[in-house]
Amino acid sequence: MTIRSKIRAGIERVLLTQGFTITRAGADYLGAAPAIAAAKAKGQSVREYVEELWEQVGAAERVANEFASAGALAHCQRVLEVGPGTGMFLEFILKRVQPQQYDIYETAADWAAHLAQEYAPQVKRQPADGVSLKHTPDASCGLVHGHGVYVYIKPLASFEYFAEMMRVCAPGGFIAFDFFAAEKFDVTQVTHWLTFPDRYPIMLPAETVKAFFTQRGFRLVHQFDHKLGRGKSQYVVFEHGG
Ligand SMILES: C[S@@+](CC[C@H](N)C(=O)[O-])C[C@H]1O[C@@H](n2cnc3c(N)ncnc32)[C@H](O)[C@@H]1O
Repeated sequence: MTIRSKIRAGIERVLLTQGFTITRAGADYLGAAPAIAAAKAKGQSVREYVEELWEQVGAAERVANEFASAGALAHCQRVLEVGPGTGMFLEFILKRVQPQQYDIYETAADWAAHLAQEYAPQVKRQPADGVSLKHTPDASCGLVHGHGVYVYIKPLASFEYFAEMMRVCAPGGFIAFDFFAAEKFDVTQVTHWLTFPDRYPIMLPAETVKAFFTQRGFRLVHQFDHKLGRGKSQYVVFEHGG
């Protein structure tokens, strides 16, 4: 590796750990302190506040219900979430699964600190390097999930995370997340997105995403669409064959 490529790799690593500072893909950064204060002023929980702000009222509960229908919300000892942001999904999952420990890997320091404090002692903030889950042991989690993260990070960073999600998933456990499926991004969709200023979406080839898991002992047990940004992301739920 030349000095130049080492520097470039270093910069990319910093961007991975600190650069993704928006909390909702495509929206301006929503800092933890102002959002918490605004929610309090309106007498709402942070989840209620952001769901209203982002025109997603009921979204977290709907997704949690889909996970439950796939059997993914059974009680387990440990859960892991990548990029929980404001914690709008965390709140529901924590209540339903009641794990002893809930690891979060979140690159936005203010939200990570807030969630670890608000949901102590279960929620444990793990150091996030942007691609790995290295502070969580192999085969330790009954549920590993992420929402609105693989819709805008670099494709290979997503696949790096997917490999890590499989590593930490316990036999019989579940992995669930959403992404923009390239196959669904047709001319109508492109034309629609181009009428808005958002340019963040990253589309992943859905068949490759699925094969990445099914070729490694995971079974696709559920999939569904979810309104996200100017279009729809696709959720997939995999079960570890054990
Ligand atoms: C679009 S927001 C979604 C937040 C939340 N999951 C939700 O659906 O409301 C993406 C979140 O992922 C975090 N994030 C971005 N890149 C990340 C990475 N490489 N590793 C971990 N978290 C990341 C961001 O800080 C942000 O909180």
